[in-house]
Amino acid sequence: ETLDCAGLHVLPGLIDPHVHLRDPGDKSVETLATGTKAALLGGLAAVFDMPNTQPSITTREQIDRKRGQIEAEAWVDVGMYIGGTRANTPELASLELQPNVCGIKIFAGSSTGDLMIEDDESLERAMRSGRRRISYHSEDEYRLQERKPHYTAGMPHIKHAEWRDVECAFLGTRRLMALARKTGRPAHILHVSTAEELEYLADYRDVATVEVLINHLSQTDEAYGRLGGYAVMNPPIRDARHMEAAWEAVRNGTVDTVGSDHAPHSRAAKERPWPDTAAGLTGVQTLAPLMIDHVNAGRLSLLRLVDLMCAGPARVYGVTGKGRLAAGYDADFTIVDMKKTRVIEESWIVSPCGWTPFAGQKVTGWPVMVVLRGGLAMRDDAVIGTPRGRPVVFAEARGA
Ligand code: DOR
Ligand code: ZN
Ligand code: ZN
Repeated sequence: ETLDCAGLHVLPGLIDPHVHLRDPGDKSVETLATGTKAALLGGLAAVFDMPNTQPSITTREQIDRKRGQIEAEAWVDVGMYIGGTRANTPELASLELQPNVCGIKIFAGSSTGDLMIEDDESLERAMRSGRRRISYHSEDEYRLQERKPHYTAGMPHIKHAEWRDVECAFLGTRRLMALARKTGRPAHILHVSTAEELEYLADYRDVATVEVLINHLSQTDEAYGRLGGYAVMNPPIRDARHMEAAWEAVRNGTVDTVGSDHAPHSRAAKERPWPDTAAGLTGVQTLAPLMIDHVNAGRLSLLRLVDLMCAGPARVYGVTGKGRLAAGYDADFTIVDMKKTRVIEESWIVSPCGWTPFAGQKVTGWPVMVVLRGGLAMRDDAVIGTPRGRPVVFAEARGA
């Protein structure tokens, strides 16, 4: 079959390195099958899936089971994070080298459940044990009492409260960077969202790579008034000063990857009054269209987009394409109509939870085809054939 790509842009297959597919978990919210179908319809060739499922992914058996599920059900290629915990620290070195594991995900701030390493000793042990880059969950902590009032509950009438800039601490990142310099082990700092933390990390390029999220590049706290609970995520969207800093960091090279942090929740959970509103937004289906729109708006170049969404993840996580340290070598392509203008509709969302914080947003530029391993997998908003996603293969070791 020959593909007519006249007038279109052919990009290497784009990657979302930060998604929560929730499988195993609540099937009425998301599954591996629906989340990867959303990714494919959104123009992606691969996603890297987070370990905070129910139960969380922390053992070899769970990795093996998930690999089988990817082979059977995934519409795009899938890499998986393994959760670092105090309990599995001794095995992390061997766990992270299991095939298709993109890295260890570590939470060290004020975060959730068992996926948490609180003390420096365990954190250092986890860092020393591995060969891969640690993926660290930054929370960009502002003082908690100051963060609370910026979203005031009462659906459907959400009061817009002022976001107040106060001291930005990011204590977890500071701890991790000290340990990174001490151990010589690099870390990828996920979803950095404040001007202060981005500025801090620019001085740690020897040990740190950086992710920003599409939401922090696309929305400001103005959205709370419009979307209420459907704007609530962690780290939160912030005022325009921080969004400008994120764009500056994209342009000056401080940022290596951009993700969606696709984190579906039920409508009921999103509509619970603050502070019980579930944090997390869908995004895997809208990441590429929004980034392409940002290119058309002149916020970044198309080459920079390819770097952030393909070469960057390949570099940071060590994606191998036929044994080489690059993505796209096995004929994965995202084919884009740079001129197509559309308004994002909630009815398009294939994640069962069924909502997007970007409904009604007009974008110019749209991924119209995806090719996986040389075969057409998506064209004009329709998936083609059966799921043909594969587990992503990663290099064994990463340098700084
Ligand atoms: O908004 C978020 N949602 N932030 C996180 O850190 C976790 C995620 C989720 O899994 O819901
Ligand atoms: Zn997170
Ligand atoms: Zn996340």
